Amino acid sequence: MLSLPARCLLRPPRRPLPAPFRWGSSGPGRRWLLSTPIFYVNGPPHIGHLYSALLADALHRHRGLLGPGPGRLATGTDEHGLKIQQAAAAAGTSPSELCAHVSGLFRDLFSRAAVSFTDFIRTTEPRHHRAVQCFWAALQGRGLLYKDFYEGWYCTPDECFLTQGQITERPDAQGRPCKVSLESGHQVHWTKEENYMFKLSEFQEPLRKWLQGNRHVISPEPFYQVVLRWLEEDLPDLSVSRERSRLQWGIPVPGDSTQTIYVWVDALVNYLTVAGYPDAHHAWWPAAHHVVGKDILKFHAIYWPALLMAVGLDPPEQIYVHSHWTVHGQKMSKSLGNVVDPVACFKQYTVDGFRYFLLRQGVPERDCDYYEEKVIKLVNSELADALGGLLNRCTAPSINPSGIYPHFSESCFRKSSDHMDVEASGRALAEDYELVASVDRLPLQVTDYFEHFQIYKALESVVACVRQTNGFFQRHTPWKLCRDNPAEKCWLNTVLHVTLECLRIYGILLQPVIPATADKLLSRLGIKLEERAFTDLTFLPRYHGKPCPFEGRRLGPDTGALFPRLETPRRRQLEIKGLRP
Ligand code: MSP
Repeated sequence: MLSLPARCLLRPPRRPLPAPFRWGSSGPGRRWLLSTPIFYVNGPPHIGHLYSALLADALHRHRGLLGPGPGRLATGTDEHGLKIQQAAAAAGTSPSELCAHVSGLFRDLFSRAAVSFTDFIRTTEPRHHRAVQCFWAALQGRGLLYKDFYEGWYCTPDECFLTQGQITERPDAQGRPCKVSLESGHQVHWTKEENYMFKLSEFQEPLRKWLQGNRHVISPEPFYQVVLRWLEEDLPDLSVSRERSRLQWGIPVPGDSTQTIYVWVDALVNYLTVAGYPDAHHAWWPAAHHVVGKDILKFHAIYWPALLMAVGLDPPEQIYVHSHWTVHGQKMSKSLGNVVDPVACFKQYTVDGFRYFLLRQGVPERDCDYYEEKVIKLVNSELADALGGLLNRCTAPSINPSGIYPHFSESCFRKSSDHMDVEASGRALAEDYELVASVDRLPLQVTDYFEHFQIYKALESVVACVRQTNGFFQRHTPWKLCRDNPAEKCWLNTVLHVTLECLRIYGILLQPVIPATADKLLSRLGIKLEERAFTDLTFLPRYHGKPCPFEGRRLGPDTGALFPRLETPRRRQLEIKGLRP
């Protein structure tokens, strides 16, 4: 019998269930432990995996804008289970070699994608082994495990047990009838073995209460409703181990060498491992905020909270759920040969270009479709033309020869309550006041969208403002104003000042999504690193009668176009053939 720390068996003091996290109420010092799911290592990463990680990264970076931590972002790889054992055998390698290789691919991808993880966990690490065994001992210590004969369907690709109602029959590749999971379409096998069972059924009521008392714990809302509906059905006990004779690649049940801990229990405990369980997790738990795909919602919104309650810990504070990416309308799959490699996408669209596309087009509530032309069109129109073009226009030496953040003139752009009164407003027009109002509102609007896991809407609102700013610039044709005429120069400087102020706000707000491009933009404006946080989002202070720290400051060096225009595949092909100059 393995000796486990005594605290594994002790019940920690029960605290009231957490209130839903609201950024608006999160002052400095508020902790958060964001996580991505941990990824299976039976195949290389694809854009769906990257999307999960980018959502978590953007949330983490956005929270970082509110003040320096303390926040963590954990990601990693899920390395145990039958699926990995079988994948290694099929590849003619050992499970540990397969895991080390594929885990490295995920880690490299996330580093390359600028995912700002603070921890990368592998479930084959000793710290995790210890945490899982400790967690198991805590379940056992509370009498919530029992041994029984489990008989039912098991789906290895999904690593889950299914009830009769969750399966259907379909012909396989040879046309023979075969049983598959209704949800994933993957083949299932009849399993009959002696397993440890977790008394999940005892948690149906506590889970319902938890959800009813925390209406925002799962977002977007439709997924919250899905979980509530699941809880109206029967909640049978859960098999939480497999016979070791069938599954060797996993963590053994403490004190029973014939059984291996079920891979999902093993995997879910990773969130505690990264919080320091079993010694130091109380500093972080339950400030856990999980980002998960809709396919693994049941594991995170039912099994995981029940397991946590079972050992006397609070459920996570927040579960953010996203939908899936399809490719040209089809599910990504190796057999269809349509799996999109994120590294190839970075080469084609740049890291920030692809980050922007996924987060701007990805709508958590519904599946999204990927195709190349869509990426190119979106990124060219919003990043290269609208944002990059605007920066280029207002910093060009021909329009701003002194290369400074020009002065704002109150007499040209008066603070007026009656926007339609041209006399009173200097040279500013009604639309210009609308622009000021929109950009003033933008930081809170963006934060609110991030809070509600609607990053795509946050980006939509930034883009709308960028377009409004382009309209402002175009409307006043500053390139036609004469610098030698004092009145015109004053207005020219004011137009430039307002435009640069808009760009400063967009640069700060875009950091969580396109960090490198935002850095380039802010550096070009001469904004220092310590001037890029939420507290620096006061827009156009001079308009509000306050000093502007940037006025008169030298702009940063010109390092070229903010964002390169992407070539369409057809254009590229013509270029390669020498048919296009
Ligand atoms: N190992 C489990 C998670 C354990 S977490 C304690 C797992 N791994 S996975 O590699 O299959 O999936 C990881 C994440 O990638 C999930 O959130 C899943 O939804 C997401 N995606 C996998 N394919 C996807 C798409 N096609 N589109 C978007 N995300 C998808 O499940």
